Amino acid sequence: MILVTGANGALGRLVADELASRDEAVDVVLGTRSPRSTAERRVDFDDPASLDFTGVDTLLLISAGYGEDDTVIARHGAAISAAEKAGVRHLVYTSLSGDGDHLTYALAHRWTERRLRRGPLAWTILRNGLYAEFLADIAAAGPDGTIAAPLGEGRLAAVARADLAAVAARVTAEPELHAGQVYELVGEHALGGAELAAAIGGSYEPGSLGATREAVIAAGQALPYQVPMLLSTYSAVAGGFLDGSGIENNALRGLLGREPRSALDAYRAAVRSHVK
Ligand SMILES: NC(=O)c1ccc[n+]([C@@H]2O[C@H](COP(=O)([O-])OP(=O)(O)OC[C@H]3O[C@@H](n4cnc5c(N)ncnc54)[C@H](OP(=O)(O)O)[C@@H]3O)[C@@H](O)[C@H]2O)c1
Repeated sequence: MILVTGANGALGRLVADELASRDEAVDVVLGTRSPRSTAERRVDFDDPASLDFTGVDTLLLISAGYGEDDTVIARHGAAISAAEKAGVRHLVYTSLSGDGDHLTYALAHRWTERRLRRGPLAWTILRNGLYAEFLADIAAAGPDGTIAAPLGEGRLAAVARADLAAVAARVTAEPELHAGQVYELVGEHALGGAELAAAIGGSYEPGSLGATREAVIAAGQALPYQVPMLLSTYSAVAGGFLDGSGIENNALRGLLGREPRSALDAYRAAVRSHVK
């Protein structure tokens, strides 16, 4: 049996759809903090009582990365320990691409990877690049159509979230073929601010990191830990660290078995859905 955590998150829902549409039937349980049907099981990394993985052969651990490092590390550590205790055979973890080490949120991902390497379970690590849809959040245009995100001349090798879900489903359905593998999964065409703006009929006038930090704090909607998370993302893109050139073996196309979706199309669609 496969159990997918975070099944009601955006990635988890897509993975569940992918698993359901496979030709050969797979036995899947959807783990979520808020079950909505009998097909779903309550799994909350913050609640040890909900972490019973008895009968699970393969666990797809979708990272629960919104939090301070100690919170995220405690969540992932609890989930892995529970999997070990229950005799889960293989754990697939959604991590962060290897070029993301300058991002503040890389630490909890690398901690989790190390925890798996040092533990007894068979594992596969999916080092996901940043989502094209995430770009629609962090590089949205203002009311006048201007994208002011401080990406500088940097570019992001963004990936359509649906492609990462397709890879996660494939690996999770046949885990023995992928044991001990660390897969880098980034976009093949890196997107810059000017290209994003052209795609939505706007203009690109990047701000400075300092002005952006002040604006984010002044808007009052970000929790304290989220400010450095966001700023480190801008800084890493602007510094040229996330354009895909630092990734030696991009496994995306091979594991998809087809051409990756257009990240620009995924960005455009996400911007449109935000506007609705
Ligand atoms: N590559 C990227 O660009 C990128 C961008 C943002 C985030 N991420 C990371 O990738 C993960 C999946 O992305 P996503 O798009 O699906 O994000 P999302 O839509 O925000 O979903 C995250 C899901 O994580 C689960 N979760 C949160 N706290 C949890 C907890 N205490 N215990 C168990 N599950 C918990 C929840 O699932 P339920 O609602 O089902 O409980 C939540 O819906 C994120 O959680 C984050 O770590 C990656």
